[in-house]
Amino acid sequence: MNIKDLVSKMTLEEKAGLCSGSDFWHTKAVERLGIPAVMVSDGPHGLRKQDLNADHLGVNISIEAVCFPAACALACSFDRELIYKMGQALGNECQAEDVSVILGPGANIKRSPVCGRNFEYFSEDPYLSSQMAANHIKGVQSQNVGTSLKHFAANNQEHRRMSASSEIDERTLREIYLASFETAVKEAKPWTVMCSYNRVNGVYASENKKLLTDILRDEWGFDGFVVSDWGAVDERVEGLKAGLDLEMPSSGGFNDELIVKAVKDGSLDEKVLDRAVERILGVLDRYLENRSKNAVWDKEKDSRLAREIEGECIVLLKNDDSILPISKTEKVAFIGEFAEKPRYQGGGSSHINSFDSLSALDAVKGVCDVEYARGYDSSADVTDEKLIAEAVSLAEKSDKAVIFAGLPDSFESEGFDRSHMRMPENQNKLIAEVCKVQPNTVVVLHNGSPVEMPWVNDVKGILEVYLGGQSVGGAEIDILFGDANPCGKLAETFPKKLSDNPSYLTFPGEGDRTVYSEGIFVGYRYYDKKEMDVLFPFGHGLSYTQFEYSNLKLSADRITDNDTLKVTVDVKNIGKVSGKEIVQLYVSDRESRVIRPLKELKGFEKLSLEPGEKKTAEFILDKRSFAYYNTEISDWHVESGEFDIMVGKSSRDIVLSDTVYVESTVKLPVHYTMNTTFGDMLEDEDARVYTDRYIEIYREQMSGNDEGNEMGESTGAMIEAMLKYNPMRAMVSFSDGKISVEEIKEAIEKLNNR
Ligand code: BGC
Repeated sequence: MNIKDLVSKMTLEEKAGLCSGSDFWHTKAVERLGIPAVMVSDGPHGLRKQDLNADHLGVNISIEAVCFPAACALACSFDRELIYKMGQALGNECQAEDVSVILGPGANIKRSPVCGRNFEYFSEDPYLSSQMAANHIKGVQSQNVGTSLKHFAANNQEHRRMSASSEIDERTLREIYLASFETAVKEAKPWTVMCSYNRVNGVYASENKKLLTDILRDEWGFDGFVVSDWGAVDERVEGLKAGLDLEMPSSGGFNDELIVKAVKDGSLDEKVLDRAVERILGVLDRYLENRSKNAVWDKEKDSRLAREIEGECIVLLKNDDSILPISKTEKVAFIGEFAEKPRYQGGGSSHINSFDSLSALDAVKGVCDVEYARGYDSSADVTDEKLIAEAVSLAEKSDKAVIFAGLPDSFESEGFDRSHMRMPENQNKLIAEVCKVQPNTVVVLHNGSPVEMPWVNDVKGILEVYLGGQSVGGAEIDILFGDANPCGKLAETFPKKLSDNPSYLTFPGEGDRTVYSEGIFVGYRYYDKKEMDVLFPFGHGLSYTQFEYSNLKLSADRITDNDTLKVTVDVKNIGKVSGKEIVQLYVSDRESRVIRPLKELKGFEKLSLEPGEKKTAEFILDKRSFAYYNTEISDWHVESGEFDIMVGKSSRDIVLSDTVYVESTVKLPVHYTMNTTFGDMLEDEDARVYTDRYIEIYREQMSGNDEGNEMGESTGAMIEAMLKYNPMRAMVSFSDGKISVEEIKEAIEKLNNR
């Protein structure tokens, strides 16, 4: 396509028309110029291609497809290659189905455990989230199909999702909420980005120039088109100016007319419209030029891949007395409806019409003879004593009981947030009753986000499978019976109770405002700093084998913030079975003038190890690994000083650590005034000549006032503290005329003009 040429041939109406969909899922064709309509479809963990009756809520039927594990599960794999592979499979499905862009992945941060869409998001940690999103995108786009990284930005609740304003300070926005998108945009270059429904600091994301243009394009180099979330457009013309290119779905021509009118009356520069059209055509071109018209997809193959992936996502939370794996000769009771009908995906726009599904009860056939009791009814939270009694009597006569539990669809979905973190009462009751008769009980959890576990001390084993996709049962059986070794690690903290969560006091906000008052202290950043006990920490996950860490090495003990640091650590499998270990690297600033978390994830590597085998995990850290976002210079900044490099099995299980000194090459600008405190000036080497003199005078002054009274230690400390907090203007009053206003003004001017 010669895009510039095409745009020059288009009429104003055709250009305005191209900036919105023709229907729910297609762009508009301009037949006269040979521009075809192309289709986009949800995502992100399967293809939701609707042929007829379109909707954005997953209500109407879509074609039969493969449901892969949802993002909540995927993130626990901490596996870049695996998620790339899933992306590749999805991209190929899109090629075969003639879908140009798949709508996802979602990279919003899990601010609260009760956000209704958490199952579609990866993590509470921006580094992990962005790495996962980047590899999803790279995988899909390797098949010449676009992605739509969503929902940009700060879309962290469903409550009033189309009007709420996320009120976030700049540093928090940068370090947490935008960082979750940033690497994915910079490294993986998504063809499209979907702006979110909400407002950010009062301005709708769909008309937020700062987000859509200044940051996304100018800072991060995004070169695709921005599409609105379905129905997210507020003021169409303002949106266009701010950088929103394509409106979806169709506005029935209404907004197209507004664009035409604005160009005609001069309130919209036609060049702005041309720019959006060029961007849309650019993506169309990438797709059309690289169509694999002969692409075919094999549902069975992709379903096997879904099973393989889920196997890497399941997290073994607890395994007392090595209750797992279960021996195939044991007498095992499978209890709970989810053994038969697992919940393996979330509700809403990501809902896949799975062509098949595999439950644990189906998958266990031929592996082990198990007996089954339904235990509860997932369609209503009503305790059915008969079902419980059956389950209890089955558990009693078995060697082990495995309870398949979790959240039913009605408990979490797109569209609403949960109001609590509890599981259905009928399931909690069932687990409690079974535990009374069967000490060897394992719970297998199917849920999109954390739950409270009142029975955590009564069961010996817990497997968190999240929403594991259509082949979930197969992956469960592989792990329960030891044909696979669990290796997932939690991508989010499981707090003990909802009120422990840092956003608890302000989620989901008042009216249309949600103030993110916990700032950067999201997830483990908060629980760690508060030294709070949690149910299961970020990064936690057990294995059927054990790993020994040794030989942590840093490539230098001193670097500048322009250098990189190589960190290596040896990990050995010292157990009896092969396994995979996710080695996590956290960085901690030992001393800082700004308020920082105790540690932040800055690297992870997954090693596959045979028994007795040792491998080296390698990490490269750069400026960003040590930096915080400095709002004075509007940039990332490293404070000179010592940083701990911590390597471990989870955020709460750091095995080895070492220290590096990082020297900043950036001098922060200083601007002194008469109200600058003396203490702040003391930290400035160049101010030494002045501060030394002031201290001398001040000391003389203070001790002279109190003759006969030796200056005690506490008085000395008090004087120093008071001196530190004196504004410069006060030096005049306390110096008995020895320091003049002019003298201070002169010093300030000299220092400011350095
Ligand atoms: C959702 C998006 C989705 C779109 C299209 C919206 O309601 O927020 O995630 O891609 O619908 O279905």
